[in-house]
Amino acid sequence: MPLELFQTILRQLDRLLMYFNLHNFLRYRHTAYSKVQLHDDQDVVQPISTMRPLHDFQREVYTLFSAPCDIQRMRYMSACLKEEYLKKLKSSTACMLPSFCHTLPTGQECGDFIALDLGGSTFRVAIVNLSTRSDPDGGMRIRHMTVHKINEKIRQYASQDFFAWMAAKIYDTLHQCKHYEVPEGQPIALGLAWSFPIEQTSYRGGTVQPMGKGFVAHKGIVGQDLGSLIESACHERGLQVRVTAIVNDSSATLLAQAYKDSTTSMGLILGTGTNAAVYLPVKALGIDKFGVRDQVWMGEAEKVIINTEVSMFGKNILPETRWDEYLNRAHCVPDFQPLEYMTTGRYLGEILRLIIAEAVDTCRLFGGVMPEAIRETYTLDTALLAAIEEDSTLGLISSAERVQKEFKLFVAPTPAEMAFLRIAVESISHRAAAYIAVAVHSLWSLQHDPTEERSSQSSVAANGSVITMYPGFRQRCHEHIASLISANAADQKACADHHISIQPIEEATILGTAVAVAVGYGPEQL
Ligand code: BGC
Repeated sequence: MPLELFQTILRQLDRLLMYFNLHNFLRYRHTAYSKVQLHDDQDVVQPISTMRPLHDFQREVYTLFSAPCDIQRMRYMSACLKEEYLKKLKSSTACMLPSFCHTLPTGQECGDFIALDLGGSTFRVAIVNLSTRSDPDGGMRIRHMTVHKINEKIRQYASQDFFAWMAAKIYDTLHQCKHYEVPEGQPIALGLAWSFPIEQTSYRGGTVQPMGKGFVAHKGIVGQDLGSLIESACHERGLQVRVTAIVNDSSATLLAQAYKDSTTSMGLILGTGTNAAVYLPVKALGIDKFGVRDQVWMGEAEKVIINTEVSMFGKNILPETRWDEYLNRAHCVPDFQPLEYMTTGRYLGEILRLIIAEAVDTCRLFGGVMPEAIRETYTLDTALLAAIEEDSTLGLISSAERVQKEFKLFVAPTPAEMAFLRIAVESISHRAAAYIAVAVHSLWSLQHDPTEERSSQSSVAANGSVITMYPGFRQRCHEHIASLISANAADQKACADHHISIQPIEEATILGTAVAVAVGYGPEQL
């Protein structure tokens, strides 16, 4: 074949390839940002020759995410959050919600208890045995448990369908468990951990509030009693139950650790969502926060476990990047949970997806074609970020294979592309650890005044996949908290000898819910 003809064919092929990439690129721009505007000039397509170098974009990502993690900025954010916390402790119906738990467990509670745990991605039904804190495993043991995945379809169930789904799982679990005999003619007492906001009206009751994490079950039932909804759904199913305790998952986490260790005074959740429960003096709250409460309760309670709903804090305090802003604007509840949108398992993957989308768009990452597998929102799993971050193979070969598989790429990402992904992932997770550290430090400062105390040891009970499993996350939180304490102490000439330890506790929510049933189980609570 004459050389000229060969060159012409090559040129045509090249044009075809360029057309194909450009076509995908335009198509992708339409789908990936159908809800959010990428730029004001979004209809102007950049010619491929003027694309931005990937390493240049990589530097920008790193700078934008690391800038807020400077110690002085973090101190400032912690102080601003504290002001917000104090305000909301006095008056807010959405956060800083007092529970009815005013005493911590003694660690002597015993028996078998049924606990339900509705989390962001699973619903669990368990029979838990408590046998006093001096026993092995801290005296808490799961005798039987079933775990039911919650996929996007279940998240979209309307209220009735959702509670019917829960009731079916409770029914099946109790009927199939050989350790448990369903009692005849009397209701089964059970506790519920609800990983969503709730306005508590009694130890065993609370009104449904708007739910986050993509759930819609609250629609049409906001303000209704949660315990009664579960009891009637079970009744429909032919099961008589009595909900005797309702706790937020953060309070359950605190209770589980407190069963083992009486010095615990904070619970932290960081998984699909985030939250913290703190044990504070009743007088820290405005009187209206208690609603209509029994005078006996008011007379007895000196301290109370508060569901902070800390995920809702941080707007205009925690700096956001343009990707956070896109995510927020495209969210079904914008501005609802600013801290959550930048730190949790549900969102870290989505932030990376948006960064990738921009890199595909402006730097020709993956040849300028957005991988089909991650075109839709929330299709990039945070587990992939963890895998990339802990990859120690040369050239990140191991995670490159995983990226290729999960994104369904024809060829593996290049070393430069993997280096870009690694920096992006680290930037996202390091900032998340810094923001969580700031939020925890600020909550801790509600309980401790380092200018007055000589020294203190605090244990924060922690649960959730990000805080317990994401590589290096907890360690980074510890380091940031320690730096915050010592920087503040140096400035205020106060004692720096305060240690906050984040203690992961396995199955904390389910165990703590059983503890809540045990603590509150008595005719006066029913
Ligand atoms: C919910 C909290 C919950 C937290 C952790 C947040 O989205 O609002 O109630 O405790 O997630 O599961």
